[in-house]
Amino acid sequence: MEKRISEKVRYVGVNDHTKVIFEGMWPLPFGVSYNSYLVVDEKIALIDTVEAGFEKEYLGNIRNEIGDRKIDYLVVNHMEPDHSSLIAVIREQYPDIRILTSAKAVPMIKGYYGLTDNIYAVKEGESISLGRSSLTFYMAPMVHWPETMVTYLEDGKTLFSGDAFGTFGAVDGGIKDSQAHLCGWMDKSDSSFAEFRDEMTRYYSNIVGKYGQTVQAALKKLSGLQIERICSTHGPVWENHVADVVAYYDRLSRYEAEKGVCIVYASMYGNTAKAAKALAAELASRGVKYAIHNLCTENVSFAYRDLFKYDTLAVGAPTYNNDIFPPAYNFMYGVCARLVKNRKFFAFGSYTWAGASVKLLNEMASRQGFELINEGMGFPQAYSAQKCDMAAVADRMAE
Ligand code: FEO
Repeated sequence: MEKRISEKVRYVGVNDHTKVIFEGMWPLPFGVSYNSYLVVDEKIALIDTVEAGFEKEYLGNIRNEIGDRKIDYLVVNHMEPDHSSLIAVIREQYPDIRILTSAKAVPMIKGYYGLTDNIYAVKEGESISLGRSSLTFYMAPMVHWPETMVTYLEDGKTLFSGDAFGTFGAVDGGIKDSQAHLCGWMDKSDSSFAEFRDEMTRYYSNIVGKYGQTVQAALKKLSGLQIERICSTHGPVWENHVADVVAYYDRLSRYEAEKGVCIVYASMYGNTAKAAKALAAELASRGVKYAIHNLCTENVSFAYRDLFKYDTLAVGAPTYNNDIFPPAYNFMYGVCARLVKNRKFFAFGSYTWAGASVKLLNEMASRQGFELINEGMGFPQAYSAQKCDMAAVADRMAE
């Protein structure tokens, strides 16, 4: 892979094709990259590190770029261990390296890695000279941890953005968006942004989704900077699609969505599933975009991706213990935890002797400020089109 991003910026990150589940929750069908960069001037700065387990490859990447030169600074934009795990290894290899980070990260570095010396807490807007160029630091709290900051290199108008603008998906061939392809993606798109957008949405919705307000604050702060290149910690380096990814983050963090329906369902004996599929068929016949997810068999991250994609949410759950069937309850708990707003909502599901799930789902959706399409459709025992008129629901959704 071409490591040279620009004369001064070199890519030294790694691709992970073996981790199956990210953060213990999110599958990685296309792998993931942990991006780290060197800024090479009279002095050298290393921006973030990578996940534990890649020590040999990572140190080799660094040495291939700078040989035996020393690294002066390690910039820690974000302390989540997929980027901070090798801080102690870097300190061991480069004992004089000075760690530059936010004040909130300092106790985290001590707590995770036992390091306390030669760490400097940078201030908002402070710059550090590397010789002919300098790095400037801006705090971006709660995007998506409290200690997060971003680093700006005036030379090349490059933003080292941490997780912001990142995506799932390994990037093996070329790291720049003019060359990058999603690993394993069969139908190569002309646009890397189009190719990575779904995995960017899944990354955002599952990991950053709750923090729309603080993402908005960060975007507002960064709007004063001229940005021509974004080097995030996951996925491609954005050069051709800077405006696209910034606009997309703006939209996601406002919880704005395109017209369409995200149908999610959980079913014990197939009756709620039949209702979900009937709704999907009615939407398809009307040309309404939709996605359908079975919460009992799929990882929920794909449902959250489409929750952020579409403006209407339909949730199907049978009544269980006079409550919402747990897989659907857990999904709705995650919807509320992500502070999702501006959605239309429809609940449905079967019961045998007393219905509760539709009423309770509607209550959760109402507390979230969602607009209920109707009172929902609970139906006794087996599904039938007579008991559960999805044509009428699809007509409302198609309006
Ligand atoms: Fe990629 Fe929040 O760590």
